[in-house]
Amino acid sequence: MKIEHKIILSNVFNFALILLTGLFAIQNLNAVLTKLRFIEIADDLNANFLEMRISEKNYFLYGNAGTLLEIKDKIKTAESSIENAKNDIVRAVGAGSLSRLRSYLKDYSEMVDMVIEFPSRDMRTEAMLRTAGKTLREFSETTTRLERERMNTIIARSKEVMRYAFWGVLVMAILVSHFISQKILSSLRSIEKMTTTISQGDFRKIEESRSKDEFGSLINAINVMSEELSHREEEIIQSRKLASLGILTAGVAHELTNPLNNISMMAQNFTEYYDSLGREDRIGLMTKVERETERIQEIVKDLLDFSKPKEANLQEADINSVIARTMKLVQNMLDISNITTKLGLDEGLPGIYLDEHQIQQVLVNLITNAVQAMSLGGMLFIGTRPGRRGDSIEITVKDSGRGIPPEFLPHIFDPFFSTKGDGGTGLGLSVSYGIIKNHRGDIRVESKPGVGTTFTIELPVNNN
Ligand SMILES: Nc1ncnc2c1ncn2[C@@H]1O[C@H](COP(=O)(O)OP(=O)(O)O)[C@@H](O)[C@H]1O
Ligand SMILES: [Mg+2]
Repeated sequence: MKIEHKIILSNVFNFALILLTGLFAIQNLNAVLTKLRFIEIADDLNANFLEMRISEKNYFLYGNAGTLLEIKDKIKTAESSIENAKNDIVRAVGAGSLSRLRSYLKDYSEMVDMVIEFPSRDMRTEAMLRTAGKTLREFSETTTRLERERMNTIIARSKEVMRYAFWGVLVMAILVSHFISQKILSSLRSIEKMTTTISQGDFRKIEESRSKDEFGSLINAINVMSEELSHREEEIIQSRKLASLGILTAGVAHELTNPLNNISMMAQNFTEYYDSLGREDRIGLMTKVERETERIQEIVKDLLDFSKPKEANLQEADINSVIARTMKLVQNMLDISNITTKLGLDEGLPGIYLDEHQIQQVLVNLITNAVQAMSLGGMLFIGTRPGRRGDSIEITVKDSGRGIPPEFLPHIFDPFFSTKGDGGTGLGLSVSYGIIKNHRGDIRVESKPGVGTTFTIELPVNNN
């Protein structure tokens, strides 16, 4: 269900609850009003009945016949007020009580008529009249008292229901807002997670959303986008491969042309001037041919490394030992180039899966570049430490060499990009890049011309 619909539904529910409570309150109020009206009438009647009984008592005390007529008057008044208010009385206490009231009043009235007709003040007459009067009055008073009690009950019950309704609506509103905001927050969190993962280049679908609300469709839309991005990335990688194939072909042609031309020229000279050349010259020419051939071999070897990145043979290894063994390979080069080396190896690093031969090749490439950038000597720092994300390790190779001009930085990993002329093939970094990517790692560079260059390799701890 959409969040919008949930909000509307919960509001409708709360509204219905308030409406019901309101209707209940109005109904109770009407009942209370009816009872009040009855109590007013009943109070008048009670007063009237009380006066009758006082007159009745006076008659038996003083025997004044006039008092009996007064009682008759009061009975008439009572009868007419009962007649006027009969609807209200029926509504409040029912038709049964009304007819009982009427019959008690009638009994009393007949009793008074009888005493008027046969005046007597003996004990029997007195007892009869008094009983009739008492019954009438007690009935009327009890009914009034009961109605008053009922009215109080209704008011108390209304108060209670109102209180429950108030808390009910409040709790419901709080629960619904909590639920909805929780839902929004958790959806936002998973969207945040998704976008972070996507921004890290991982286009896997994070979470197929099953909910049918707005966030569900948002998450699904992001999933679609992520899938689209992953297709695009594949396309880009494909077109990059094609592009680098072009560069590669052009580069190979260019790289090989120079030494081949040289060889061809020297071979020509050798045959053309064979007779006039001395032994030294012949050896010199042939040595140059040999050197050019070696150069071609070097290019072809780098090229093979580049074009056929061998399947990495991953084995658990301690990166610090790998670095130590690599240092032995390059120690001589560092010594003759007048370079001080500093190692900063973190001891507590986890073992990682890597192809030792390939990682050594990367380190040798980086160190060779560093040495070549410090032709007048300098400082080389090699360090290891836990990666920033916690599930990786970082290797740093830092030199105090000439640095890389910012305009070259985007190209140093391109195949055949070299600033060293015949001194380099421009394949070292692109081969290294391929190896690190094969290890699901990352290689970055930071450089300041005149200050130095730092290469950082990040390798995941769990990559197999
Ligand atoms: N440590 C470094 N200091 C300065 N420049 C560097 C460094 N490492 C690489 N470079 C630059 O990047 C280019 C490409 O390096 P690389 O791929 O190893 O090829 P090559 O070393 O054969 O030139 C180098 O020619 C150089 O200009
Ligand atoms: Mg190099």
